[in-house]
Amino acid sequence: DPRVQASLARTSFAPVRPNVRDAVVVPDGFRSQVVVRWGDKVAKGAPDFDVRRLTPAGARQQFGYNCDYVGLVPLTGKAGRGGKRALLVVNHEYTTGELMFPEGVYDEATRKRIEMAYHGMSVVEVVRGATPGSWKRVNVRSTTYNRRVHDGTEFRLSGPAAGHERLRTTADPSGTRVLGTLNNCAGGLTPWGTVLSGEENFNQYFDASGELDPRYTESYARYGISGGDRGWSEVDPRFDLTREPHEPFRFGWVVELDPLDPKGAPVKHTMLGRFKHEGANVAIARDGRAVAYMGDDERGDYLYKFVSKGKVSKGQSRKARAANKRLLSAGTLYVARLTGDGLEDGDYDGSGEWIPLCSDTQSFVEGMSVAEVLLDTRLAADKVAPTRMDRPEDVEANPVNGKVYAALTNNSRRGAAFPVDEANPVATSMVRESLGAPLTPASGNRNGYVLELSPIGGHGGRTFSWDLFLVCGDPDAPETRFGGVDKSRVSPISCPDNVAFDRAGNLWVSTDGNVLGSNDGVFRVPVAGEDRGLVRQFLTVPRGAEACGPFLTTDDLSLFVAVQHPGEVDGATFASPASTWPHTDDFPRPSVVVAFRDR
Ligand code: FEO
Ligand code: CA
Ligand code: CA
Ligand code: CA
Repeated sequence: DPRVQASLARTSFAPVRPNVRDAVVVPDGFRSQVVVRWGDKVAKGAPDFDVRRLTPAGARQQFGYNCDYVGLVPLTGKAGRGGKRALLVVNHEYTTGELMFPEGVYDEATRKRIEMAYHGMSVVEVVRGATPGSWKRVNVRSTTYNRRVHDGTEFRLSGPAAGHERLRTTADPSGTRVLGTLNNCAGGLTPWGTVLSGEENFNQYFDASGELDPRYTESYARYGISGGDRGWSEVDPRFDLTREPHEPFRFGWVVELDPLDPKGAPVKHTMLGRFKHEGANVAIARDGRAVAYMGDDERGDYLYKFVSKGKVSKGQSRKARAANKRLLSAGTLYVARLTGDGLEDGDYDGSGEWIPLCSDTQSFVEGMSVAEVLLDTRLAADKVAPTRMDRPEDVEANPVNGKVYAALTNNSRRGAAFPVDEANPVATSMVRESLGAPLTPASGNRNGYVLELSPIGGHGGRTFSWDLFLVCGDPDAPETRFGGVDKSRVSPISCPDNVAFDRAGNLWVSTDGNVLGSNDGVFRVPVAGEDRGLVRQFLTVPRGAEACGPFLTTDDLSLFVAVQHPGEVDGATFASPASTWPHTDDFPRPSVVVAFRDR
């Protein structure tokens, strides 16, 4: 049946083998195509990409660097032209100057301004291609939706902390308007058609010309704000902590962008707390309230959720959309505590509770106001004894079984600075220096987990049970667990980061930082039935890249993947031999690809 064959939820495929190719590799019978690359035109009037003639103004009009979150918002009515058109919304998390600029072309200040401008988000109109499941960009001149959100884009702060004294700066005495969004990592589509995006490692953009404000010593320390080395304050003084001690409080939020409102100011939601937001994904509680699940990506940090006060309005009328866009401004913010039920049952599992931190009108943390809980959410959570997790990344509800899946990417210090517990049980992991090398032990949780939460009473409830669904790694490693399946059928998987679901409820996982010698990639995993836990690799990304997104279209015909930082192994290490993927230039270009059935 060709429909089964074409459906990424239902088709069978021979898993992609671990490899170190400088290519996007998909199983036999599938194909991948580049949809949009770093430097491609997004806004009308954008210059042609020429790596020797980059400008900050041009960068603000082109597709940004290091694509991360990917979401596809269908256009409806005439604009959608029968389901053929949609808006691709993408985060540009950060830049890597070493891979961007040819030597001797730019001065330092220009480089910094260009890098700043390649941060942010892009909205790119796309249209279905001739092969079912394929998509391509529409010409920039024939769309009214394309948009680059960049360092000069004005955001509105919303929620209980908006306007707070600690959000006021020289440029914005109101404490309600911020220029730009930084380090946008993952995100999610809301049921009402907007996109949420998490500001993650924002601390790295601030440096200090002198003393740090002693009022904020504890807060800065808890967020790692100590003076980064990007040197941005040399071109924009707001990044100098000494001159603008409040500027870092204006980052670290969940951002909401309405791609159907290309002129509207995106919003930073203070009600969802301030931390190193990986992303946010909304599910709907039984009573209709919106519930956003979130991870704080730092070793030993926490899982969070927000439950709105209002209920989701149905439909796409102007009134319903306006009401829904206010949902994330009032409600209650919670942090998770997980309790194990003992290892005697042979399972890493137990019960859990959501501990309230504050509502929009009331703080539940002694000695802190609502605004303080929202501005210093980590410090507030520290006081209520949540469970210290191994770098919580994407957290998302499965629309088919109603369970919530959290990627816990790794924690090299688990078992040392962070003692093990039943939810964080691995203190020694098997890793591999390179492909073909033997497995060797390393301290800590190096390969990560996927945690499954089963909400009690639906997404609005205060309790849940939990199960460590995947203990990742090489299936030959003794610590690994893949549901109950025969390990010999499983693909090696390391460092889960982003999650998505197809219409059959299968989990799709992308990885960042494989320590088993292979390139990163994307995996499909059934969560129910006899194949529950059967991890199978669907795609690998080029050398040095991490696999982001992933995003499946609602017809399950297309898998979008952001190929982030091809050529960069980590901030200080570069792939050798160097990556030149997607091989259109003699340097790498982070790009979004789409994978689909070829025949
Ligand atoms: Fe930007 Fe937590 O990955
Ligand atoms: Ca147990
Ligand atoms: Ca990551
Ligand atoms: Ca990520």
